[in-house]
Amino acid sequence: MTRKVLVVGGAGYIGSHMVKYLLDQGCSVVTLDNLSTGHRDAVLGGEFVCGDIADSRLLSQLFTAHRFDAVMHFASYIQVGESVVKPAMYYHNNVANTLNLLHAMAQHGVPHFVFSSTAATFGEPAYVPIDEHHPQQPINPYGRGKWMIEQALPDYQHAYGLTAVCLRYFNAAGAHPGGLLGERHEPETHLIPLVLQAASGRRSHISVFGTDYPTPDGTCIRDYIHVTDLCDAHWLALQYLWNGQPSQNFNLGNGQGFSVQEVIDTAREVTGKAIEVQVSQRRPGDPVSLVADSSLARAVLGWKPQFTDLKTIVSHAWVWETRT
Ligand code: UFG
Repeated sequence: MTRKVLVVGGAGYIGSHMVKYLLDQGCSVVTLDNLSTGHRDAVLGGEFVCGDIADSRLLSQLFTAHRFDAVMHFASYIQVGESVVKPAMYYHNNVANTLNLLHAMAQHGVPHFVFSSTAATFGEPAYVPIDEHHPQQPINPYGRGKWMIEQALPDYQHAYGLTAVCLRYFNAAGAHPGGLLGERHEPETHLIPLVLQAASGRRSHISVFGTDYPTPDGTCIRDYIHVTDLCDAHWLALQYLWNGQPSQNFNLGNGQGFSVQEVIDTAREVTGKAIEVQVSQRRPGDPVSLVADSSLARAVLGWKPQFTDLKTIVSHAWVWETRT
């Protein structure tokens, strides 16, 4: 039986990889994206609808025209710093518009939801690695908004039977292993693409935000997880929901932390380029270390990340950065 999936935000970085992945699995895919940050040419197949989840009439038309087996929701603003300066924009899109989507799903009896959540729902880590029992005390509007949706979802399950999996990404990174897709944020704020832009000459240097953190080399530690491994987890989450399993939240990371300095060193090794570094002030709101405990996803979903080596992650991103 061919499954039909609506991918909201399917023209963005992770969403576009997911659309390709679902098509490769033989699913029927409809992408809904307002192209505010995504790219039409990143949607490599299926049906494309340019529109916004704020548009209730459009959602109603979509859910009347198609009988979806699940909705995957990637359409969020993602910059922590921006969320502090523009909270209204973040709450409006990431919370109100998501509730609008859930409302339409409930009205039309769409049964399952896979939600892109984030490590930012945890706030300052009380301990690492961070498992699903870690307290959730987000410290910025981005994390708070995602957490609000996480908290609302059990009510939708209770009242409307809508089951959901929330996947809390740590640092999504890398690119399609075949070079078809990659990260294209404008402006780019993420470490790996910025370091590689410095390597390719698109940027003069990389600024390191703080070298006085209490880590072995003084720079922040993050858990970089390959976008293909994230797609695997989403696919397993769909199987889980389609098998009638209850709503669940999972943390997704490699369980291995790398410092900003280690990322730069790896990029130098992979690219063979001298990458100029300038030390800057700490960036407000950066926790010293974020590393995931993903044992629950491994045990319950059977998830096994394949591209856990930082060199592989950076190599795939480099192929994308140097595409012609
Ligand atoms: N960094 C630099 N220089 C830069 C950019 C980043 O030193 O030019 C550092 C940051 O200070 C941080 C690390 O590199 O220590 C990673 O920064 P990113 O901006 O790549 O990623 P973040 O860890 O800040 O945030 C990412 C996502 C968020 C998500 C968070 C959850 O962008 O959406 O992971 O872990 F909430």
